[in-house]
Amino acid sequence: MAENDLTRFSIAVPENLLNQFDKLNERTRGDRNRSEAVRDLIRQALVADELRTPEEEVIGSLTMIYDHHTGDLTRRLDDIQHDYTAEIVSTMHVHLDHHNCLEILALKGVGARVYELADKLLALRGVHHGALTCAATGTSLEL
Ligand code: NI
Repeated sequence: MAENDLTRFSIAVPENLLNQFDKLNERTRGDRNRSEAVRDLIRQALVADELRTPEEEVIGSLTMIYDHHTGDLTRRLDDIQHDYTAEIVSTMHVHLDHHNCLEILALKGVGARVYELADKLLALRGVHHGALTCAATGTSLEL
């Protein structure tokens, strides 16, 4: 199979989310169909991953929105964070409404550790939205 042959697959998306995605597409790139838009998202994720600098010191923030009623999510978030006390400089927790919490973590440390922490937290079921914004400080560290 040639590298650029297309593979079809189906994904399940809540209708409301798909409607919002279509509207965003229409507004930002009117001529782009849904498949092209999803391909762009996949490429963006791959590029973002390539930009990671695991061997360098990074600083950044991790923003999460989650429903604290989801299973034992609060405990799991807490357990993971307690394994990264050297990287978590500060945290801010905002109770948004009856269900949702906004949590912002200020992070600093070796990229590999900071990315690992973000990946673990954002993978938890119940974390609806999450984004890590990071920049290398220009300092290379021994791993
Ligand atoms: Ni809360």
